[in-house]
Amino acid sequence: MRASAELHGPWMSLPSTPEQYRAYVRRYARPDEESVLVCLRGSGAIAGVVNINSIIRGRFQSGSIAYAAFAPTAGQGYMTEGVTLVVRYAFEQLQLHRLEAQIQPDNHASINLVRRAGFRYEGCSPELLYIDGAWRDHERWAITNTMIDIAPTRPHATLPER
Ligand SMILES: CC(C)(COP(=O)(O)OP(=O)(O)OC[C@H]1O[C@@H](n2cnc3c(N)ncnc32)[C@H](O)[C@@H]1OP(=O)(O)O)[C@@H](O)C(=O)NCCC(=O)NCCS
Repeated sequence: MRASAELHGPWMSLPSTPEQYRAYVRRYARPDEESVLVCLRGSGAIAGVVNINSIIRGRFQSGSIAYAAFAPTAGQGYMTEGVTLVVRYAFEQLQLHRLEAQIQPDNHASINLVRRAGFRYEGCSPELLYIDGAWRDHERWAITNTMIDIAPTRPHATLPER
């Protein structure tokens, strides 16, 4: 994390002390949060992390996706491959219907990534998230399971169909 701090810049802050890391691990043990590491097949090196935050079930069946590359392997397509796999995992294994990425308009690397992964632009929300000391405007990019030919998910089993 420390070696990648410059890459993560103002966009994303990840744990860099044992205490922060323990809190992070506790957070991702909850059923409404998932954290996945992107690793290289050959060496097992960690190329990045992809989180599915704020999973809402019921009639939403949706989550918010956030990700970061690690400096030694950034810029080689591993995160595009990782995010694409996580999208499939979210739809097929977690039975989600929609994933959304909220991205600041100047974060071109992130916008390029979601474009490559097949997300579509839905609009811009002013002052959506508190990042790096201020409420920042964010573009909203999303993908649904039907956009990649996965059968539509049903609402949560406890809900009536209509
Ligand atoms: C956003 C972020 C994860 C993107 O990481 P990345 O390393 O650019 O993504 P990838 O691993 O998919 O690599 C893409 C690059 O590899 C290139 N590439 C090479 N081979 C490729 C392949 N087979 N497939 C896709 N891209 C390939 C692409 O052209 C692209 O380079 P370019 O940007 O110069 O065009 C990274 O910039 C980051 O960690 N940023 C800070 C955290 C952050 O902003 N998170 C998102 C908050 S919304």
